[in-house]
Amino acid sequence: MPDNRNSNINFHPMHQKVTIEPFRIKVVEQIRLTTREQREAFLRQAAYNPFLLKSEQVIIDLLTDSGTSAMSAEQWAAIMRGDESYAGARSWERLEAVIKDLTGYPYILPTHQGRAAEHLLYTRLGGPGKVFISNTHFDTTRANIEFSGARAIDIPIPEARRPEAIHPFKGNMDTARLEALIAQHGADKIGAVILTVTNNSGGGQPVSMANAREVSRICRKHGVRFILDACRIAENAYFIKHREPGYEDKSYREIAQEMFRLADGCVMSAKKDGLVNIGGFLGLNDLELALQCRTVLIITEGYATYGGLAGRDMEAMAVGLQEVFDPDYLHYRITSTAYLGNKLDELGVPIVRPVGGHAVYVDARAFYPHIPVEQYPGQALVCNLYLEGGIRCCEIGSVMFGKYDEQGKLIPAAMELVRLAIPRRVYTQSHIDYVIETFAELMQHRDKAHGFRITWEPPFLRHFTARFEPAGGAED
Ligand code: F0G
Repeated sequence: MPDNRNSNINFHPMHQKVTIEPFRIKVVEQIRLTTREQREAFLRQAAYNPFLLKSEQVIIDLLTDSGTSAMSAEQWAAIMRGDESYAGARSWERLEAVIKDLTGYPYILPTHQGRAAEHLLYTRLGGPGKVFISNTHFDTTRANIEFSGARAIDIPIPEARRPEAIHPFKGNMDTARLEALIAQHGADKIGAVILTVTNNSGGGQPVSMANAREVSRICRKHGVRFILDACRIAENAYFIKHREPGYEDKSYREIAQEMFRLADGCVMSAKKDGLVNIGGFLGLNDLELALQCRTVLIITEGYATYGGLAGRDMEAMAVGLQEVFDPDYLHYRITSTAYLGNKLDELGVPIVRPVGGHAVYVDARAFYPHIPVEQYPGQALVCNLYLEGGIRCCEIGSVMFGKYDEQGKLIPAAMELVRLAIPRRVYTQSHIDYVIETFAELMQHRDKAHGFRITWEPPFLRHFTARFEPAGGAED
C-alpha cells in the first residue's frame, strides 16, 4: 500500500486503503518476457546503451514518462473528431481554447513536441553572448540554447544537489543567485529565465508558488523574460496543494493557472501532463515575439493551426490537458510514484528524497561507491537493471551531462542519478512490485558490479546514441 512515510512534510491525504489505479483496462498490449541469457545478448548488441534496445526486448520500460501515457476512452473518442483541414481546423480551435483558458496567454503556437517549441523560442532569444538561467535546464533545453551559441546556467537551491536532503520544494530556484547573475551579466544579456516545473533533471522535484512568485518579481523588476517549462505542471500543482500553506482549498487547475500567469510565456511538451503520445505548444504574452516564432513555425513545423500535428492529435491533447487535473488521477499518480520510492528506500537503495512526481531517482554513486565517476556508475546500474529484470531506465549523470576539459578529462555532472520514470496510466502495482524485487536482487551483489567506458559519442546529447564497453573487472 502506498504509504506516507516519505518525509515529515504534510504530503498526501491519509487513506485507509490501498490507492487503486482509478481506471479499468480496456485494451492490453503484450509484454514479451525474456531470459537473462537473451538480455545479455541484446545488451551487448545495443553497445550497453538501453536507448539502442528494441522495445520488444524490454519487460518494464521506465526509460521515460514522455509520450508513453495510455490514452483514455475519451481521448480515443475525440480522435475520431479530428479535423484534418490544413488551415483553421475545428480541432485547433478546440485545443487553442483549452490552452488559452489554462495558461492565460493570448498567443498559442502548436508544435509536434516540447523541443520544437524550445527551438522556436530559444533560437529567437538566444545567440552568442546571451545567457539563460534556470532551476535546471532539461537536456533538450540546454542543447537548444547552446546550439544557438548562448550559455545555460543552472541555479537550483543548494539542497537540490544533495540527494538525501529533505525539502518540500527541492525544485526551487536559488533567487539570491538569480539576482546576482542578472547584476553580473546585465539584464539585456539574459535571453530568458526558465523555471522547469517539476524540475526533471533535478529529481522530478516540485517548485513552490512562492518561489515562482519571487522569480516573477525579480524578472519583472529587471525587465527580463520569464518562461515556464510547464510539461509537468499538473504534478507540480499536486505538491503545492498538499505542501504549501494557503493552497489547500484551491483546485489543481487553479494552482496551475496561477503559476502560468506569473510568467511571460511557456513551453510545454504535452507528452507528459498532456497525456498524449505526441504534441506540445508555445504560449506567449508578447505579440511581436509570437509573430517571429510563428514565421519559423511555418517554415519548420507546419502551418500555424496545426504545427506538425494531425487534427486528431490536437483533439487528444485538448482532452488530456483537462483530464490530467482530475483529483483521483493526480492522487494515484503521485502516491504510486511514492510507493516505488518508499519501498526502494526501505530496501536501503539510496534515492533522491523526497520522491518526486513522475519518477524515482536512484543515487548511483552511493549505490556503487566503488565505481569511479569516470566509469559511469549510473550506466552500470542502468545495465544491471536490464540484465537482472529486463527493466529499461535512463542515466541522468555524467553520461548525460558530463563534459571534457581541455586535456580531455571528464568534468563530471553534479550527481550520478538513474531515473525510473513512470509512464502515466500504463503499469499496475504488480509491475512496480517486480521492479522492487529486481532491486532487491541487485542489492545482493552490488559490490561485484563494474563500470563502463565510452567507445563512441556524438557532440550533442550523447546519451541517446553513445556506445559503451565494460571497463574491466568482474562481469556482473
Ligand atoms: N522540458 C522538460 C522538463 C522535459 O522533461 C522534456 C522532455 C522536454 C522539455 C522536451 O520535450 O521530449 O516533447 O521534446 N523530457 C523527456 C524525458 C524526453 O524523458 O524526460 P519533448
